[in-house]
Amino acid sequence: MVIQNASLKSLNTFGIEATARYFSRFSSVQELDSIFKEYKEIPFLIMGGGSNLLLTQDFDGIVLRNEIMGKSILEETPDSVLVKIGAGENWHEFVLWAVENEFGGIENMSLIPGSVGASPMQNIGAYGVEIKDVFDHLFAYHIESGETHRFSLDECQFGYRESVFKRALKNQYVITEVCFKLEKNRSVNTTYGAIEQELQKMAISSPTIRDVSNAVISIRQSKLPNPAELGNAGSFFKNPVVAPSIADAILEKFPSAPVYPAENGKKKLAAGWLIEQAGWKGKTVGTCGVHKLQALVLVNYGGSTGNQIYDLSSAIISDIQEKFGVTLEREVNIL
Ligand code: FAD
Ligand code: EPU
Repeated sequence: MVIQNASLKSLNTFGIEATARYFSRFSSVQELDSIFKEYKEIPFLIMGGGSNLLLTQDFDGIVLRNEIMGKSILEETPDSVLVKIGAGENWHEFVLWAVENEFGGIENMSLIPGSVGASPMQNIGAYGVEIKDVFDHLFAYHIESGETHRFSLDECQFGYRESVFKRALKNQYVITEVCFKLEKNRSVNTTYGAIEQELQKMAISSPTIRDVSNAVISIRQSKLPNPAELGNAGSFFKNPVVAPSIADAILEKFPSAPVYPAENGKKKLAAGWLIEQAGWKGKTVGTCGVHKLQALVLVNYGGSTGNQIYDLSSAIISDIQEKFGVTLEREVNIL
């Protein structure tokens, strides 16, 4: 059912008040197809959990909320399973289901908000794992032709918070199902320092995938604000990938600055560290601000507009550019 002038406030984790001229949910490709046929000429926005969006204006088009559900096992061997998950399924519930069934590979990505269908959009990742590490293929509805196409790992062109769906194929496809290859008897990945420390705190020396999932949940709860209590969209910026000379200049001045190896000999800096060094951590500007426990997260204390949060992000970008010569890029999708 298509409704008019729908409030999107409860559908985006920033809790921003904005209105959609038209709004509809869809739970099958057939439903999606008939909506697109009827509302052909107007702008559209596909929404999952609204946890990576900043709404800076009302949406003068149709907002379509993906509610395609279903989890199934397509193939099973003694070592692995190939699972197919509906794009409208909640990501964290999928992780818990995998952990419950002892299917390993996604436990490090516990508690990431949002839908399974959005996970390939920016190749979600956390604590040393990205979905490209477990991804097999996906199905997506091609808006122009109404056909469903299959995308392999290579075709998705995954990178750090990147995919072909954010670039060359932007606004051309709706992801409807995602297939992942998960492992049975998997050895856990605890290379990310914070996990090691958390497991030590929990006095666990031979962690299972459930232990890793619990450790990640505990780390995340200790520093990331729960959107149900404080509006936010996770990391607002990407961690910048820079030439080694820029990282070296920062390390010379701040020898303990976090710097990680990145592709092609480049270096990845921690944007949260840069923002904290620049004095923004915990700062409030009107009704929004920079989270006091994680400087990469911008928060809405209540009543902020998308533009106020956007302006705060612009001020941070200018300041980091001036102080460190590094250009921060927004991770959150701005509308
Ligand atoms: P939405 O916000 O609804 O949509 C995001 C974008 O994808 C939009 O452009 C939308 O149009 C598009 N889109 C959504 N679904 C589809 C579809 N089916 N087909 C085509 N396009 C679609 N991300 C990480 O990578 N790692 C983290 O650790 C992490 N932690 C977070 C912590 C918090 C507290 C929060 C609030 C967010 C965090 N995020 C993290 C960001 C966010 O959870 C992910 O980007 C998530 O995948 C977004 O899912 P969603 O369903 O909410 O997407
Ligand atoms: N740091 C600070 N101050 C801060 C925040 C971080 O100095 O306020 C430092 C930390 O001390 C650490 C480094 O920065 O040395 C990295 O911090 P953290 O481990 O918290 O991770 P992050 O780089 O801030 C990234 C992702 C998160 C993901 C975590 C864990 C991006 C943009 N963000 O954050 O993803 O959960 O790593 O893997 O890559 C998201 O995308 O929304 C998100 C939350």
